[in-house]
Amino acid sequence: TDWKTITVERRDRVGLITLNRPDALNALNLELMRELVAAASDLDADTGIGAIVITGAGKAFAAGADIKEMVDNDYVEMYAADWFSGWSRFTAVRTPIIAAVSGYALGGGCELAMMCDIIIAGDTAKFGQPEIKLGVIPGMGGSQRLTRAIGKARAMDLILTGRTMDAVEAERAGLVSRVVPADAVLDEAMSTAATIGSLSLPITMMAKEVVNAAYETMLESGIRFERRVFHATFATEDQKEGMSAFVEKRDPEFKNR
Ligand code: HXC
Repeated sequence: TDWKTITVERRDRVGLITLNRPDALNALNLELMRELVAAASDLDADTGIGAIVITGAGKAFAAGADIKEMVDNDYVEMYAADWFSGWSRFTAVRTPIIAAVSGYALGGGCELAMMCDIIIAGDTAKFGQPEIKLGVIPGMGGSQRLTRAIGKARAMDLILTGRTMDAVEAERAGLVSRVVPADAVLDEAMSTAATIGSLSLPITMMAKEVVNAAYETMLESGIRFERRVFHATFATEDQKEGMSAFVEKRDPEFKNR
């Protein structure tokens, strides 16, 4: 496919998507959203791919939704176009996704990172929801996901002031899984993705689904859902292989069955 706003590479079992509008700090316009969602869905449908990494070209991950594309819109236009609704297909991707963030992840960029399953940050990363300074609020899930990720007090601090937090603060707050030097962030993300990709794909998908249920469900029904999916792993050959290999003191050979 001839992508205009992203690049897509396959490296062994890892799919790498690079946001590629560096002159606009990878601002997320509708074309980029469409391409990113399509590319992620393609990789999701490919059983040769066990994990996806998303990163940004140049000095930013993404500096937000494209303000220039929205500036002249009115309420009815935003509502009629159901602006940002395309991201629902991105969060429906079942393959684990890692965001490799260096530089700015602001507004929609921070929200995109939070739609991924793991965030690995370079020490230059800056996270924030600066929408308030534009006279709007987060529109791609930020008010919900940031609050669940770092708690109400910290989310209020960021969303009400629009200030950014650096990688160290983001890790302390629990937004980010790991912080590494900026020039190592892609390698760290790719090797983490390779690790995930070496495991059973249906089982990593189930693990992603049950963790995400913690975001979306009340505790009691989340626990019940997790228990049932856990039971269901025993219907796979990979569970038999994984547990037998442990008992037999050898490495497992997963077949994604
Ligand atoms: C469109 C953007 C952009 C954005 C940067 N650019 N962010 N274009 N949408 N979100 C463009 C700039 O206009 C500029 O284009 C080029 O990228 C380089 O940016 P500079 O500002 O010159 O870079 P720098 O001085 O390094 O400042 C970086 C920055 C600043 C601090 C990140 O760009 C910035 O504040 N950007 C906006 C951040 C933001 O508010 N994000 C939230 C967006 S709203 P030219 O053509 O001049 O070179 C959102 C949620 C939407 O995401 C909710 C509903 C509205």
